[in-house]
Amino acid sequence: MSADSGRQTIVIIGGGVAGLMAALAAAPHPVTLLNAGPLGAQAASAWAQGGMAAAIGEEDSTALHVADTLAAGAGLCDRAAVERIIGAGPAMVETLLRLGVRFDRKASGALALGLEAAHARPRILHANGDATGAEILRALIERVRATPSVTVLDATARQIFTDDAGVCGVLAMRGGEAFTLAADRVLLATGGIGGLFRYSTNPQGAIGQGLMLAMQAGAVLRDLEFIQFHPTALDAPGGGALPLISEAVRGEGARLIDETGAYFMQGADLAPRDVVARAVFAHAQAGHHVCLDARNLGPRFATRFPRIAAICAEAGIDPATQPIPVRPAAHYHMGGVAVDAEGRSNVAGLFAAGEVARTGLHGANRLASNSLLEAAICGEAAGRAMAGQVAKPARALPARAPAPAPDAAPLRALMSVHLGVLRDAAGLRDAAEAFAALAPANPAAALALRIAQAALARETSVGAHARADSAPLRNSLHKAA
Ligand code: SIN
Repeated sequence: MSADSGRQTIVIIGGGVAGLMAALAAAPHPVTLLNAGPLGAQAASAWAQGGMAAAIGEEDSTALHVADTLAAGAGLCDRAAVERIIGAGPAMVETLLRLGVRFDRKASGALALGLEAAHARPRILHANGDATGAEILRALIERVRATPSVTVLDATARQIFTDDAGVCGVLAMRGGEAFTLAADRVLLATGGIGGLFRYSTNPQGAIGQGLMLAMQAGAVLRDLEFIQFHPTALDAPGGGALPLISEAVRGEGARLIDETGAYFMQGADLAPRDVVARAVFAHAQAGHHVCLDARNLGPRFATRFPRIAAICAEAGIDPATQPIPVRPAAHYHMGGVAVDAEGRSNVAGLFAAGEVARTGLHGANRLASNSLLEAAICGEAAGRAMAGQVAKPARALPARAPAPAPDAAPLRALMSVHLGVLRDAAGLRDAAEAFAALAPANPAAALALRIAQAALARETSVGAHARADSAPLRNSLHKAA
């Protein structure tokens, strides 16, 4: 194992929107950013299609966006966090434009705003039609490459060292070699957990690495049971990382349909995501083939949604003339490392931002397109806070072998069956028992166990956590419509 010099540094783990914004905000303070592979390659941010929500429309207001976020969160959002993050949305749009992000515009030159589920107003900024995350990442990566204070390493963090004074270093792997970095401030910006499931819209590598590191470091995790399932992932053979058919497609009038031609959502195709995911799941369980019918868009589909059109073409589907087969898939983790307004966890020096963090914005169910906004705002806040913190003297790092590598493969079937759209106590207990047996040798199983325990402990249905053994609070399309 090689050791870095005794120099203290800020370490950012993850090169998605949150990590890159933090690195830029910390400048000119030196930062080491650890990213597995080239920047942008593994980031879930790059897959974000629909866009970034911000209340910038003429008929819109922060109060309306706050109200929609609170309603989607099913009573479990932290109001102060919602008001702070949503309130910072319009200024973040300006910041991103300044950083070179090219959001789509109307012919008039004004920013184009789309509509997604449970938003009272069109407020979804998008780029290149349906490649919003990729465009934001492009601009941020360009900026980071031009920022001399940021050193990017192609490496994977495997352990965070702590002592009585908090974080003191990171153990990472690069090309099979372990090395250490002395660091008194570490930001987890590692994304979500979709890769723990058989069907997911996340990169397969998104298996909650940040949560595993945080657990080992003693950080408090909250709301782990709240996992959002997107109702319309492309139902491609083989499962794994499924391409998303953005909710923005339903925002443009597409509707869910089955093999009989019935529009089974009774007009509630844009109900909150948890409601639609449960309806699609139930319809498929009843033996139907669920599709998204976007034929209303005709040839406009390919210009409004070029990336999705290409995905469909690859699967042999022409959305202008054929319904698109869809299924629910794990999409976003509302739970995570409990953090304050500047991304601080309970462990001194350990910060988190983006999907790995639990800020209180999402409650039990995230409002569509609030996550890129949160990642940008909270990444920036954490970067500033870390740079503003007085450095501690470097401490000796323990000589320790890396923790075992996480392996999601033995967990996926159990996660999908027992921690999917619909859960019950017996299934959760079975899953927890299996995860407990694997946990000592597999950090991913230890995380899955914590998620199963959280789901068991919440005995009533709320938001994305639906218990078949309790009355779901919001399962009726009529109530939701
Ligand atoms: C989508 O485009 O449907 C996903 C957007 C999001 O999850 O926020």
